Amino acid sequence: MCGIVGIVGSQPVAPLIVDALKRLEYRGYDSAGVATIEKGELARRRAEGKLVNLERLVGAEPLAGTIGIGHTRWATHGVPNETNAHPHFSNGVAIVHNGIIENFAELRDELRADGYEFASQTDTEVVAHLVARELAHGAKPVEAAHNALKRLQGAFALAIMFKGDDDLIVGARNGPPLAVGHGEGEMFLGSDAIALAPFTNAITYLEDGDWAVVRRSGIAIFDMNGDAVERKRQQSLGTSFMVDKGNHRHFMEKEIHEQPEVIGHTLAHYLDFTSSRAKPLDLPFDFAKLDRIAISACGTAYLAGLIGKYWFERYARLPVDIDIASEFRYREMPILKGSAAFFVSQSGETADTLASLRYCRQAGVPIGAIVNVRESTIARESDVILPTLAGPEIGVASTKAFTCQLSVLAALAVRAAAARGAVSADDEKAMVRSLSEAPRYATQVLKLESQIEKVARELSHYRHVLYLGRDTNYPLAMEGALKLKEISYIHAEGYAAGELKHGPIALIDEKMPVIVIAPHDRIFEKTVSNMQEVAARGGKIILITDQKGAASASVDTLETIVLPDVPEFIAPIVYALPIQLLAYYTAVFMGTDVDQPRNLAKSVTVE
Ligand code: F6R
Repeated sequence: MCGIVGIVGSQPVAPLIVDALKRLEYRGYDSAGVATIEKGELARRRAEGKLVNLERLVGAEPLAGTIGIGHTRWATHGVPNETNAHPHFSNGVAIVHNGIIENFAELRDELRADGYEFASQTDTEVVAHLVARELAHGAKPVEAAHNALKRLQGAFALAIMFKGDDDLIVGARNGPPLAVGHGEGEMFLGSDAIALAPFTNAITYLEDGDWAVVRRSGIAIFDMNGDAVERKRQQSLGTSFMVDKGNHRHFMEKEIHEQPEVIGHTLAHYLDFTSSRAKPLDLPFDFAKLDRIAISACGTAYLAGLIGKYWFERYARLPVDIDIASEFRYREMPILKGSAAFFVSQSGETADTLASLRYCRQAGVPIGAIVNVRESTIARESDVILPTLAGPEIGVASTKAFTCQLSVLAALAVRAAAARGAVSADDEKAMVRSLSEAPRYATQVLKLESQIEKVARELSHYRHVLYLGRDTNYPLAMEGALKLKEISYIHAEGYAAGELKHGPIALIDEKMPVIVIAPHDRIFEKTVSNMQEVAARGGKIILITDQKGAASASVDTLETIVLPDVPEFIAPIVYALPIQLLAYYTAVFMGTDVDQPRNLAKSVTVE
């Protein structure tokens, strides 16, 4: 989603802002812009498309000015073009914005009636006009910003700059994150600490409802009533996390290959491999006394949670309610005492997941956050942070964060199973030992890359694909389909194999390959029956199985990808890799923008 950078600096800031925006590219965007104050006047450059276009423009027509704000825009209101790109200006006010102003239509009508003209289709422009109107009514810049902020409904992070004051940026946060960076005689604003890492690692995070007056000499932070508030300054981990692609063509490829290592790190955080026991955790609840767990998340993180449900229920005999966060937050479900709630999120900033967390907070149940970004809002608002140690994930399509989420959920399921006496000490040890082997199996799967690349070449000739699986392979089938559609733009659906004959079988013909995830487990034969139904209708099957499965599946396949035989418990972690590689190489053959697929954002800070 949109990225914000602001600098009140000591040298020309436009190139620095463009560089900082590059570090926010991973969030997804479709236009970008930067504004400074040159000789007392606001000046800006904006460009549609990638940052390289803005960089060229700033190179050809440089901007002077030691104060500036910059933005990468992920379109919500109005198409991605130069006119809708931020910063937006109104009578000496410049604004960049991340989020959605929900009452923008009402404000726009009011401002139009007052004679304000709108140059763009964005909701952001109302904020620029609101502030400008306050100035016109005689308010000083800081007061004008505060008065305008009080009129806004919705989710927003904002940076506002004023012609005639080159020592002032007003920042505000209500929803999407905004961090202030402290320098020596310079101050910074950014959507996250990674953007500010080249400048400083001394960071203050604004909280919801905060707004800040940022000057070279420091910051003052206020709440919406205008009362000063204290927010602590912290050392960010952002600097050590700046990442590049190494020898890989894409971040996604690199991140797929990092999995053996990061799965190992994550598991080692929760499991003691020497004693083969789950490590004790300082939790705000006792697994033994819980009646239910509620899990809520979006997209890939939701699918990780769905696999977690199978694990908690099967091994710990602990019932799990799981919802897509955008549904959870509005369906007014009763959260019973005796429950704990888990929220799964790579970014820790997903608006719907955060809203679900706050719903559970009101219900008074203990809250755990399974997050990759420990400084994120979801992490900060939880009672316990259960980190995934995936490192920064830059590719928009989640890969290593997903398998690390699975690793945390699996480790928690072991912990819960042991605490509830649902498994014996020997079973607990066997589960921990099998998890400890997951990184090694992941390494073995990566060796199948060239075979999977060939299958992907074939897949890239089709327009529709069906993914099937049973049990934990059902959510994995949905993840395979999600991954394929989001980066290759091939239409793909994931179904429970048993549902085939309740509808989707009507789609089967030679133009729709069916990818079946079927390790040789308790219900392997059931899935083989479904494959036979597909084959009988001329469907082409790509089977992802293990050695036992390949030896016993009595069905013709277009291709069979044979993974090592792995314990059933850890299969979802290992089987995630081939479906990621399939999606990755299919997208490479299709020539799409693998790391930043169209229309998608890495950090979804609006609902
Ligand atoms: C798909 C993908 C998304 C995210 C979803 C939640 O590859 O990455 O579906 O999983 O937007 O994001 P987080 O995990 O940041 O809450």
